[in-house]
Amino acid sequence: MARESNTSDLPGLEVLYPAAFPDEDLLALVHDLAVEPNVLSLVLDQSGAIIGHVAFTPCTIQGDRQPLALLGPLAIHPDWQKQGWGGALVREGLARLRKQGVAGVLVLGDPAYYGRFGFVAQANLFPPHPLPKEWASAWQSLALGDEKLGGGQLKVPKVWDDPKLWAE
Ligand SMILES: CC(C)(COP(=O)(O)OP(=O)(O)OC[C@H]1O[C@@H](n2cnc3c(N)ncnc32)[C@H](O)[C@@H]1OP(=O)(O)O)[C@@H](O)C(=O)NCCC(=O)NCCS
Repeated sequence: MARESNTSDLPGLEVLYPAAFPDEDLLALVHDLAVEPNVLSLVLDQSGAIIGHVAFTPCTIQGDRQPLALLGPLAIHPDWQKQGWGGALVREGLARLRKQGVAGVLVLGDPAYYGRFGFVAQANLFPPHPLPKEWASAWQSLALGDEKLGGGQLKVPKVWDDPKLWAE
């Protein structure tokens, strides 16, 4: 079952991320997010082993107060992939954010995966750093309530304000 993570999960995350992302080093980001205030960070714990993780970072549009969240990173251990765990983790996070009154979630990821949760391409809410052209359709949003999401420039905490996280 999904539960909120704490810093004692870091050793488990240090095993999970290189296994799920063999070509990408996300551990610095994962460490930074673990100490960033107000991040919703959920793990799937199977008898003490961390087999899945997702983080949602609070953010807003420049000059706007509508509470939003940025989804990422998301990882399921390869031994546990394609069994519904990723979907369960994302849906649990979205449900918790909806309860907190968060208006919408942004993600940079494969539309073929995130489309199943209702994410759609986002053209008028700009990511913190310009994306490579071929990633345009990977920038997506999902409104969690009735309120339409505003447009403008997304403002993220420092942990996400790194151009390398938004480029190849
Ligand atoms: C992507 C990931 C989180 C999905 O978790 P999961 O538990 O394997 O996924 P689920 O079991 O909930 O869903 C499986 C479905 O997602 C699809 N899927 C899995 N990974 C996908 C991907 N990277 N892109 C598109 N679709 C994907 C599967 O084909 C399957 O489709 P189906 O339901 O039509 O058969 C997981 O595979 C993973 O950690 N991958 C490596 C890291 C990664 O790419 N993270 C995502 C960053 S955007």
